[in-house]
Amino acid sequence: MDSLLQKIYKDISPLIGQGKVADYIPALGAVDSNQFGIAICSNDGEIYTLGDAHKPFSIQSISKVFNLILALELKGEELWTRIGREPSGLPFNSIVQLEYEHGIPKNPFINAGALVVSDVNQSHFASPRIAVREFVKKLSGNPNIQIDKVVADSEFEHKARNASMAYLMQSYGNFNNDVESVLYSYFCNCAITMSCVDLAKAINFLANRGYSNIKKKQVLTKNQTRQVNSLLATSGMYDEAGSFAYKVGLPGKSGVGGGIIAIVPGQFSICVWSPALNDAGNSLAGGAALESMTKHIGWSIY
Ligand code: DON
Repeated sequence: MDSLLQKIYKDISPLIGQGKVADYIPALGAVDSNQFGIAICSNDGEIYTLGDAHKPFSIQSISKVFNLILALELKGEELWTRIGREPSGLPFNSIVQLEYEHGIPKNPFINAGALVVSDVNQSHFASPRIAVREFVKKLSGNPNIQIDKVVADSEFEHKARNASMAYLMQSYGNFNNDVESVLYSYFCNCAITMSCVDLAKAINFLANRGYSNIKKKQVLTKNQTRQVNSLLATSGMYDEAGSFAYKVGLPGKSGVGGGIIAIVPGQFSICVWSPALNDAGNSLAGGAALESMTKHIGWSIY
């Protein structure tokens, strides 16, 4: 594995820093774009790292995976009466489909879908703002994972677009809780900071038929794990899901903080991080690193 990481680094090092760091809020715009980390967590619990793999970053939309898993544990199949399971083919923060589709978002990984998932969790948890943080602490085995309050508050200040989606869904009867409270919970999830190592560990159960070696618990059934991985493969990279399937061929999920997680079912989980993004909002060097990885291991789910 260590030589695999070296090969990946050799392939992609010229790309580090290329692209543009997310700057829709000042706290993210200030991040140094020349950072790069990878962590692999094998299904037997070995961790392999390279570069800035231990450095916490804003997980942003990667939180949508954990948010979904909490809601699936609560609602099971009933969840899909409120959210679709189709790729949107549009940017993550697009609003246009919501009116055509009567307030039912296309999938749980675009912002509108994640807001409905947050609404489901808001109805259940006594402290919905920290439910996802507590969940990722257990999944990663790291009790020190934090929510960056500066990022959460700054997102809330710039909430107009997400708020518009949530109110539109409320107008169709697809929102049960106070919109502003759900928005804050959603922003707290996006503002969680984790390292590549934390994330590779936290998602390892998705590579391991739903069983977490860290939590020592079946987190999802084998069937639910297959279902979540299929959603990651079709919708995890937004309007780049097709190219990501073509180039990388793994279930994956990105965030505008520059992280991307991916699953090699039956073998290992991986997280790459490099803050500069391409035009679709996915880490440029991170995507290239995953492409290099599947080229070197000669394996993909397809
Ligand atoms: O709500 C938003 O738009 C951001 N907090 C999260 C977006 C994100 O990470 C999309 N992923 N690429």
